[in-house]
Amino acid sequence: MNSNASRHYFIGLDVGTSSTKGLLVDTEGNVLAAASRDYPLDTPKPGWTEQDPSLWWEASREILQELCHQAPTAPAAVGLTGQMHGAVFLDACGEVIRPALLWNDQRTETQSAEIERRIGSEQLRTITGNPALTGFQAPKILWLREHEPHHYQQISQILLPKDYIRYRLSSTFATDVSDAAGTMLLDIERRNWSDDILRELQIPRKWMPRVYESAEICARVSVEGAGSTGLVEGTPIVAGAGDNAAAAVGSGIVEENTALVSVGTSGVVFAHTKKAMPDPKGELHCFGHAVPGSYCLMGVSLAAGGSLKWFAREFASEEAEVARRLNGDHYDLLVSEAATVPAGAEGVFFLPYLSGERTPHMDPNARAAWLGLSFRHTRSHMLRAVLEGVAFALRDSLERIEQQDTRIEKLILVGGGVSNPLWRGIISAALDKPTALQPNQGGAAFGAAVLASVGAGVHESVGTAVKAMVAPVEAFETPDRVLASDYARLYKQFTRIYPALRAVL
Ligand code: XUL
Repeated sequence: MNSNASRHYFIGLDVGTSSTKGLLVDTEGNVLAAASRDYPLDTPKPGWTEQDPSLWWEASREILQELCHQAPTAPAAVGLTGQMHGAVFLDACGEVIRPALLWNDQRTETQSAEIERRIGSEQLRTITGNPALTGFQAPKILWLREHEPHHYQQISQILLPKDYIRYRLSSTFATDVSDAAGTMLLDIERRNWSDDILRELQIPRKWMPRVYESAEICARVSVEGAGSTGLVEGTPIVAGAGDNAAAAVGSGIVEENTALVSVGTSGVVFAHTKKAMPDPKGELHCFGHAVPGSYCLMGVSLAAGGSLKWFAREFASEEAEVARRLNGDHYDLLVSEAATVPAGAEGVFFLPYLSGERTPHMDPNARAAWLGLSFRHTRSHMLRAVLEGVAFALRDSLERIEQQDTRIEKLILVGGGVSNPLWRGIISAALDKPTALQPNQGGAAFGAAVLASVGAGVHESVGTAVKAMVAPVEAFETPDRVLASDYARLYKQFTRIYPALRAVL
């Protein structure tokens, strides 16, 4: 820590899928205030997911007002992070043309195949680090061109979700390497847009925001931004990062050997790598990291916390009422029900593919399923199977990362899903590595505040900021041996289910 630094305050803002969260953090990483606002997700058709960017802005505005009000002195800088891959289309007046298509939207199978064909699979992977995936931004642009030409003709700028908030705060169009890598339009080695891919897909470069490293200042709060939020006009805004890279920074993952496991709406296993290492099988993502010059390998399961949320909504709405009456947490109440059933849910399995799946199947048409039900089984078994199915899906990612010569010794866990001890225990045992909760549990918003401290010049680099602000993990816990060996056996069975079902579903 820079002990001579006077105390400064930074705001990290995470524009998530189910809520936006903001934190007010000081030079030493103490969290002084937190605020969040929830909002819904629209699914106009099966496999489609959309959100109106004005929901993000209203949430961000209120959160920033709340945090500025609680800040002892005006925040020195703002860092932005958020759900990756979404497409926000703006017209020449900066107005949103239609609701944003999100990271878990699966409507673009045809367009993804077209991108693979036009660029060539090998070339695409070499340039962008990834195969063409339905959730990424580029196929969404092609989809709009084909299906809503009246909207496409109005485009003047295309932004990622957190960059829309930047635009509302500063009237500046900008993005960062880690988030831009999820568009499929970035040259991963050059850490800038690929002219070849833009040209081949006929996407004008002027529609794309300028790309910065995560801790660089790329905008300043405008008069209007200040008026809406309570931030001081001219407050610097750093480029920030996609939510997983920011959560990695906020958990101190800026070196190899320790991976991040994040259980939010999606489930992610994130490993830092020194160079870009595109997965030859295309089952993992290779993106830029928020540390200049570094990269990550990332496995993504699309419905992790999302699966439990769906279960709670569809099969346990009464518990929400009970939890409200008892002033408790709906999810904790539900997960405690799963504890009444033995590991393995007496033969019930759940495939958590409610939005299709990325790692390892990369199949937008994959579907969720319970298997192995009998008269003996109850809702509690089905619930336990959901928790275990998500844990096995995370193991799919961890195994793929280790197959890429990336040794993972320990795991840091973040996100709402791991706050419950039972689910955390299931996940740790299924992954079978020493695990620890990140002590400050600030996740992506905390990481964005760390990046802001570097932009403000209070800390010299992302590495030194992490040392000064991120509480070190004191002890990693070894998973329960009996549970881990049960799960090793059950995981083998789990991996056989999708290939068998693919033929019929
Ligand atoms: C990452 C991904 C998700 C979103 C969710 O590739 O799609 O983790 O970033 O916020």
